[in-house]
Amino acid sequence: IGPMGSGKTEYAARLWRDAAVARKKGSAISYLTSGGGTQKELFEPESGIGTADRRNTFFVRNALDRSRFRDYPEDALAYRGGYERCGRCIATISNSFDLEETIKNIKSKIGDGNAVIALSGGIDSSVAAAITEKAIGNRLYAVFVDHGLLRKGEAELVSKAFSGHDINFKKIDAKDRFFKKLNSITDPEKKRMIIGEEFIRIFEEEAKKIGADFLVQGTIYPDVIESGRSHHADTIKSHHNVGGLPESISFKEIIEPLRDLYKDEVREVGRKLGLPKKIIDQYPFPGPGLAVRITGPVTEENIKICRDASAIVEDELEKASIENIWQAFAVTLEDRVVGVVGDQRKFGRIVGLRIVESQDAMTANFKKLPWDLLENISTRITNEIPEVVSVAYFISHKPPQTIEPC
Ligand code: XMP
Repeated sequence: IGPMGSGKTEYAARLWRDAAVARKKGSAISYLTSGGGTQKELFEPESGIGTADRRNTFFVRNALDRSRFRDYPEDALAYRGGYERCGRCIATISNSFDLEETIKNIKSKIGDGNAVIALSGGIDSSVAAAITEKAIGNRLYAVFVDHGLLRKGEAELVSKAFSGHDINFKKIDAKDRFFKKLNSITDPEKKRMIIGEEFIRIFEEEAKKIGADFLVQGTIYPDVIESGRSHHADTIKSHHNVGGLPESISFKEIIEPLRDLYKDEVREVGRKLGLPKKIIDQYPFPGPGLAVRITGPVTEENIKICRDASAIVEDELEKASIENIWQAFAVTLEDRVVGVVGDQRKFGRIVGLRIVESQDAMTANFKKLPWDLLENISTRITNEIPEVVSVAYFISHKPPQTIEPC
């Protein structure tokens, strides 16, 4: 499957994924152990259950399937440290993503038909679009949905980046539609389901106009795992493009060329394809957008606070040239606290800051930022957004706190 070296936790999950891919392809699997020997079955890819040495096995299981964690209470305290230990025994796995083969597969699936790609302008869908364009050229129609839940300036940025190129690009203004459907919904999974369905309905409508039978999505491996669509995983959250898909869909097939890859691997493919740095190196942004960054209902006020505060966070981090950030954004919290502005009491809003480092979002650490920088961010948010009186910083890793709050 790949060479061993020294690495971190995430590789355990990657090993599992690569083993499953290799299995699908009918390849024989063998693993090198830390001692340099070879072992036929370090663990069983189908079940995620290890058969090698108990400690390594446990951590392999742990990284793969947190719901089984409770089977091993005596190891519970070693949870985070365990990742490292696992990393020492399982390391750099090179995934055998074959770009040419992927392009060939897409070509043969779509034939001389048309396809619609769900383009958000983010890393995954942009890379998926570039790959699919190589396969079917201008028979690919990129549909970019502005659901009113995008970051500040994002709709304009994406429109500018993709119009005027070979790719057929269409922006759909669907804010009213989404806001109406999301009205007063606070349950995170319900929000995700509604958004996932509404996206698909729009793509179906557009596909009908064009005569396209295929939908291309930039789904990646963690979307599948977290949506619980892999037999070893509990549903962490339903990613809009996997768990949030409705039961009945009018497409002949959904094509997902990146479904076996982690985000950093997707970035690598994007670089190979020569996509602009601005697209490849941007922060990941979830399809459901700011709806999953407000703990309350989708209202103009909640979204505005989240959007404006996030823009301040991004601006201050850029000014301070802070590196190695996976994601950085603001969360609008539903609780209120008492504040004092001038000599007036104000029962105001709280904004939470989520700024994390990560390799591929399967685990993450909160970023240890200088106090002065956090102070600047906080002062600007409370000065520039009148509804907010309090700014908090999430100092929890993933696990247990996921990166997005909803
Ligand atoms: P969590 O919040 O589960 O997120 O730690 C892991 C990574 O996935 C992104 N994310 C999503 N991306 N559709 C997406 O395209 C979704 O529904 C979705 N939910 C979470 C999140 O931003 C983070 O990078």
